[in-house]
Amino acid sequence: MLSYFSFPTRIVFGPGAIGALGGVVQEFTIRRPLVVTDRGVAQAGLLDRVVAGLEASGAVCAVFDGVDPNPTEENVAAGISRYREHGCDGIVAVGGGSPLDAGKAIRLKTTHDRPLAEYDDFKDGARWVRPDLPPMIAIPTTAGTGSEVGRSAVIVLKETDRKTVIFSPYLMPTVAVCDPELTRRLPKGLTAATGADALTHNIEAYLATGYHPLCDGIALHGTALASRYLPRAVASGEDDLEARTQMMMAAIMGATAFQKGLGATHSLAHPLSSVAGLHHGLANAILLPHVLRFNAEVAADRLRDLAAAMAIDVSGRSPQEAAADAIHAIQSLFRGIGIPVRLSEAGVTAAIIPALVAKAMQDGCHLSNPRPCSAKDFQSLYEAAL
Ligand SMILES: [Fe+2]
Repeated sequence: MLSYFSFPTRIVFGPGAIGALGGVVQEFTIRRPLVVTDRGVAQAGLLDRVVAGLEASGAVCAVFDGVDPNPTEENVAAGISRYREHGCDGIVAVGGGSPLDAGKAIRLKTTHDRPLAEYDDFKDGARWVRPDLPPMIAIPTTAGTGSEVGRSAVIVLKETDRKTVIFSPYLMPTVAVCDPELTRRLPKGLTAATGADALTHNIEAYLATGYHPLCDGIALHGTALASRYLPRAVASGEDDLEARTQMMMAAIMGATAFQKGLGATHSLAHPLSSVAGLHHGLANAILLPHVLRFNAEVAADRLRDLAAAMAIDVSGRSPQEAAADAIHAIQSLFRGIGIPVRLSEAGVTAAIIPALVAKAMQDGCHLSNPRPCSAKDFQSLYEAAL
């Protein structure tokens, strides 16, 4: 069977990378960018820094700062109106996963007329996506989703009534400008939750079914970086630029690795955001140990590799024992950075589990989980995490 590999876009990486932004937009002849972001990024002063950098290079910016924490179809429609009013010729998306994903969907809609629901990955929507898209620069301000190097946008759509994955290799940003300085002031809780997402991406990608040794290598090293530096990034806040830098790389690696696929944790987490309003990274972190226990029956060897990547001594341990060690270490790491252990601590009640299960089954991520999942399995996993 043939395999198709496509690797990330150009990445400008490192403290001070934002200084290269002007040159990047000039190279791609973006003269009238739409800057897509959210109010938190604007209030943190990061939007002003980006706009100043763009204007210094001669660009005339329009700003759309109305992206919701879970971006919606309405956000995309408002962004596209702004793009057209201003006669824009490219997108600069700044923020966590939400503004970056909204930026990708706005970019898609500049040249594609179908309703967003028709691009749903679950319905093979990638076949409708063409390469004729304006240039897009992605500037992450968290170290988590890795959307800056990813090929998908996750948007809440009315028609599907769920977080819907819109996927195509053409959606990958033209350039990712990744400056860990921009993450320094992220509060502890958000550093923990977004970092947990990055760790989960690396772990789920490594366990995902399918043949992708390139992604496997990246996922193991991304797991090593995230497990080592996430506690430091949370504990020392803005002082530890090395930890922030390594976490930004772990996030890029996680999103690169999940070109291979993700797993049941993400399918279970997506409805927790759209139905119960949980932060995506937090939902992943609570569910991951339960899903790994479920997967250990069929993926102990791979969990053993992950244990070794996390610097756990696996010599003399059977695959099952090493898998248990890995799960225990992940749980301890999450506890240590202040992630709640149970869904009920985050306000989830048993009454909504049937609605969550129905939506999780429709989410495509679990299709690459190493152990096939039934609705009954999902019900048990939510109950175990409650
Ligand atoms: Fe994620």
